[in-house]
Amino acid sequence: MILVTGGLGFIGSHTVVSLQEKGHEVLIVDDLSNSTIEVLKGIEAACGTRPKFQELNLQNSLGVAGIFKSHKITGIIHFAAAKAVGESVKKPIAYYQNNIGSLLNLLAEIQTLDKPIPFIFSSSCTVYGEAKTLPISERAAIQPAMSPYGNTKQVGEEILVDTVKALEGFKVISLRYFNPIGAHPSIAIGELPIGKPQNLVPFITQTAAGLYPKLTIFGNDYPTPDGTNVRDYIHVVDLAEAHVVALEHVLACKSTDAYEVFNLGTGKGSSVLEVIKSFERVSGQKLIYKIGKRRAGDVIAAYADTSKANEVLGWKTKRSLDEAVSSAWDWEKKIRGR
Ligand code: UFG
Repeated sequence: MILVTGGLGFIGSHTVVSLQEKGHEVLIVDDLSNSTIEVLKGIEAACGTRPKFQELNLQNSLGVAGIFKSHKITGIIHFAAAKAVGESVKKPIAYYQNNIGSLLNLLAEIQTLDKPIPFIFSSSCTVYGEAKTLPISERAAIQPAMSPYGNTKQVGEEILVDTVKALEGFKVISLRYFNPIGAHPSIAIGELPIGKPQNLVPFITQTAAGLYPKLTIFGNDYPTPDGTNVRDYIHVVDLAEAHVVALEHVLACKSTDAYEVFNLGTGKGSSVLEVIKSFERVSGQKLIYKIGKRRAGDVIAAYADTSKANEVLGWKTKRSLDEAVSSAWDWEKKIRGR
């Protein structure tokens, strides 16, 4: 049974669907802090199987021990973490307690097993900061984190590097995500931001749905082709499939190194204006926007060199920006009852 922590979240729920489609049995552990129990029904509607579920905050070490006593866990995909960059600046202690504490509790349990089990860690392209060369390969330098959230990903990776050195047979893959967007084609699951969305695509779709009068583009004076920031927007289903491939890679003992890192993106950069154009194309409606000031902490441009994941894992993205944006819009219309 595969333990998926944070399996009711945005990327977690899509990964559970992909895992179950490939025949894996799944136990979701989620504390419902940034998700709802309704997502379980959505997962079942998307793939026909309801995963096992336990509500638990992974900071509870006795609870974590209980999971391993009650189930035969053969692999872990660890999504459970708080992820709001701005909030992490205001609540650093809570972010370190939650994101690092949860990771340590899981590792402490893995250490007690007869044989360590594969561990897939959710990391982020934020570890590269403003990279010196584009596209960004896994060999690019790690830059000092710009927020406590970003630092929890860096420190998380360091903890894993140290643990694989000390724990014989322990295999870990860290997946550094670029910008996940979109929803499952069934529209049974998607992104559910709490409050005002901070990310571009949910803000676009909520503005188009009438929740906000207009979108503000955070700066158009960057040294990019159209002056707006460039990012690598990856369809969440492509991202979900990468997790299954990564897990199966370790389960099949194909990893050459005990600790491996992969970038997960499309390899293609899109500007904020290009994403807006994509939305207008797939929705057939104009988006109202204005140009505002730069947002603190935004890097100019970031997109992935995906050759390592393509070659080593045999994974590549299959879905376009338009497909991703279109699915995000279909999901928004569904949750707004249109
Ligand atoms: N943007 C706007 N207007 C908005 C929202 C976003 O112009 O209302 C722009 C941003 O300035 C940025 C682009 O859209 O240029 C993408 O912004 P997102 O917030 O969607 O994504 P980021 O690349 O900023 O964030 C991602 C991840 C975070 C991670 C961060 C690190 O979502 O988890 O990269 O920089 F921490």
